[in-house]
Amino acid sequence: MEKSPIEVFGQWAEQGKDKGMEDNHRAAVAAMIAFSTAQPTPFSCIDAGCGNGWVVRLLAQQQHCQKAIGVDGAAAMIEKAKAIDPINDYYCEDLLKWKTVQKVDLVHSMEVFYYFENPDQLIAHVFKHWLKPQGRLIMGIDHYFENTASHHWKKDCGVSIMKLFPEKTWLHFFEDAGFKETQSWRVDEKENWAGTLVVTGIK
Ligand SMILES: C[S@@+](CC[C@H](N)C(=O)[O-])C[C@H]1O[C@@H](n2cnc3c(N)ncnc32)[C@H](O)[C@@H]1O
Repeated sequence: MEKSPIEVFGQWAEQGKDKGMEDNHRAAVAAMIAFSTAQPTPFSCIDAGCGNGWVVRLLAQQQHCQKAIGVDGAAAMIEKAKAIDPINDYYCEDLLKWKTVQKVDLVHSMEVFYYFENPDQLIAHVFKHWLKPQGRLIMGIDHYFENTASHHWKKDCGVSIMKLFPEKTWLHFFEDAGFKETQSWRVDEKENWAGTLVVTGIK
């Protein structure tokens, strides 16, 4: 019986598997943060699907970061995040339903957006309700069509929703939501591994 992504990752947090994700995603996330924080200007940010909050803490350490927020639907992930880090803000919410009180300059997300039946709706929701004008969304994913090594993951993990789209479709989702200056690239390509697909755009 397949389980929802939030149920599966809640169990992963209870089993300590969040640390493995942190280790596996570290190189791509470092490249994404280097790209999105390259300008020496103050910024506020949200990590969408923050897991145990490790990227929120990384973002908060950046020289010009003024506010860092993490949102995740799995209660056990958010409990861990709050226990490790009493300073930054964490919310246990469904990303598609949650709206921020104060819009931000940067929305970052790693390995989250394909856990939605209609990822285009989430991209449009972030554009409309989370980002300031000129704000950036940057998303990294390992499960996409060109990365054939990831095709069997849905079966392996027993997750009910894991959408598999090609790079071009992800770019179209950004463009259709209204993002400008969209671009995509791969980080950490290896033999039998197409790398993390990074997609970004500006509101
Ligand atoms: C593969 S994990 C990645 C976690 C973190 N970004 C990292 O790199 O370690 C995917 C995360 O997305 C969260 N998630 C999935 N669907 C969600 C939803 N509808 N609303 C909020 N969070 C969701 C899960 O709870 C999980 O923590």
